[in-house]
Amino acid sequence: MAGLIPQAFIDELLERSDIVEVIQRRVSLKKAGREFAACCPFHGEKTPSFYVSPQKQFYHCFGCGAHGTAISFLMEYENLSFPEAVEQLAELAGLEVPREAGGDDKREAHAPLYEALNAAADYYVQQLRQTPKAVEYLKNRGIDGTTARDYQIGWAPPSGLIEALKPRFTPQQLVDAGLAARRDDGGIRERFRARIMFPIRDRRGRITGFGGRLIEDGEPKYLNSPESEVFHKGQTIYGLFEARKAGTRLDDIVVVEGYMDVVGLARAGFRRAVACMGTALTRAHLDSLFRQVSRITLCFDGDAAGRRAAWRSLAEALPAIQGLREVRVLFLPEGDDPDSLVLRDGLAGWEERLAGALPLSETLVRLLREEHPTDTAEGRTRFAHAAMKLVATTRDPLFRDQLVERIAEETHLSRERLEQALTEPAPAPSAHDVRDEPRGGPPAQARAAGGETPPALWGALLARILQHPDLDWSQSEIVQLAELHGVAAATLRELLEALREHPARHTAGLLERFRDQRHFQRLMALAHQELGDREEAVTRQTAVDCARQLLRQHYRARIRELTRPGAELGTEQRAELARLTQQLQKFDAPRQENVE
Ligand code: UTP
Ligand code: MN
Repeated sequence: MAGLIPQAFIDELLERSDIVEVIQRRVSLKKAGREFAACCPFHGEKTPSFYVSPQKQFYHCFGCGAHGTAISFLMEYENLSFPEAVEQLAELAGLEVPREAGGDDKREAHAPLYEALNAAADYYVQQLRQTPKAVEYLKNRGIDGTTARDYQIGWAPPSGLIEALKPRFTPQQLVDAGLAARRDDGGIRERFRARIMFPIRDRRGRITGFGGRLIEDGEPKYLNSPESEVFHKGQTIYGLFEARKAGTRLDDIVVVEGYMDVVGLARAGFRRAVACMGTALTRAHLDSLFRQVSRITLCFDGDAAGRRAAWRSLAEALPAIQGLREVRVLFLPEGDDPDSLVLRDGLAGWEERLAGALPLSETLVRLLREEHPTDTAEGRTRFAHAAMKLVATTRDPLFRDQLVERIAEETHLSRERLEQALTEPAPAPSAHDVRDEPRGGPPAQARAAGGETPPALWGALLARILQHPDLDWSQSEIVQLAELHGVAAATLRELLEALREHPARHTAGLLERFRDQRHFQRLMALAHQELGDREEAVTRQTAVDCARQLLRQHYRARIRELTRPGAELGTEQRAELARLTQQLQKFDAPRQENVE
């Protein structure tokens, strides 16, 4: 039965769920540092030894050893099967478990929230008609009545919504819908006051939240609905439903920054723009856009903030490229946004500009060139290293080839040489890097790691990846280690592959991909092993140090094997020996090697 629920859904479910919330409904939790503690619900005890970690989305009892994800908890605590636990969790997260039949009753639970949001939108539209200054504001910004209707733009008066919806909805429902907030005295107050209202629809066209803009100066300029059972910012794309409705066939989509950009472009006749509402573009956004179209253009401001956003999006987009999928990037002139551009240059001007958007590969080259100018050998070297790191995150082999080709051109290096960089260990940390460590010197644990036995080293490495799946684990030592033979290396390989396939935000998300496998219990144990790292830099450094140690041990063992008395070495083996010895020297003398 478990096999009938797609893994992608489990991933999404864990992304949208919070284990603290799940457990808190059943066990009284108390904050304990970064975790929550309680008396363990799985064995009798008087002092709390049951801990829940919001970071890892994982629970663990030091008393009886019970541990697991939100799904495990529901299975244990409610005595549910896996699909039943998934069902329960999905209900809490406002998701429907994808199935061939049935499941309609789940949707019922959220019906009042959708109804309240709909009623609010109607109310805001009606209020707009009666508020000349709001209409005036929209007119001044070039928005006509048709566009306002298409996007159901409205006006939230300073007060009145609660009064209007009171007969049909309870205060709690208005709070749950994100339309009202609790006051300290237990009453409720309206969330949106004196704002132009932009309803946000989900893929199916249901209103799930709002964005509201002040028409005078003030803070915040835009206010958005809070996360709710039905509104999930990281997954919602403003204007996608409207774009689909408008277009007979939607081939490509343009991602802009704001509500007004989407609406302004639509007014000018360009109906293929969407926005992700002030949050950075996530992989979830990209995936959901790629479900609709194969071509996406991302717009960024020409300023420093725009560059940063472009870098982030580049990192998200590279692994998402596959087959026909294509991402282009448009950098806008500083001080302009799509709304201001289309007002000034008209539809033709905008479309012309759009046609000049850079392919993702060119964006990569351009952004890298800004950081590492390629007019010197040193610059080209840095460029090549940084570029190949990004290339390593791609998944489509053809795309990867094209990128390498382009990077070869840019750096005057051969493709072969560049491809080698993908498998070679990176240079050891230099004295300079070590000084950059937050409190000077490599962490005590990293130093201690040298004396650990191999299984402990493997454990220390795997535990760190499991507990920090959000960190970048593409360090060449780790990647190289994953290519060795043996069970531990195979596990590492699987972890890295799982992360590449679907970046996990927390431990539980990563773990649940291994539930059906033999070593699931071992991974569960590593997931709650106490690490004691002070900060992420330490976690990363320790893991890399473990990987280096393990590689070193591997090189030593292989060298011993090749040089055992009486061994006959062929040309190939002599070359291997030379390479291994060189690798080993690199590891053993990291400082000298890096004094350049
Ligand atoms: P901008 O500040 O670029 O606004 O924010 P804009 O889209 O150009 O809007 P106008 O033209 O001033 O009306 C871009 C997006 O960032 C989010 C909103 O989603 C907005 O559309 N944002 C901005 C907020 O959520 N809160 C804010 O206070 C500001
Ligand atoms: Mn604007």
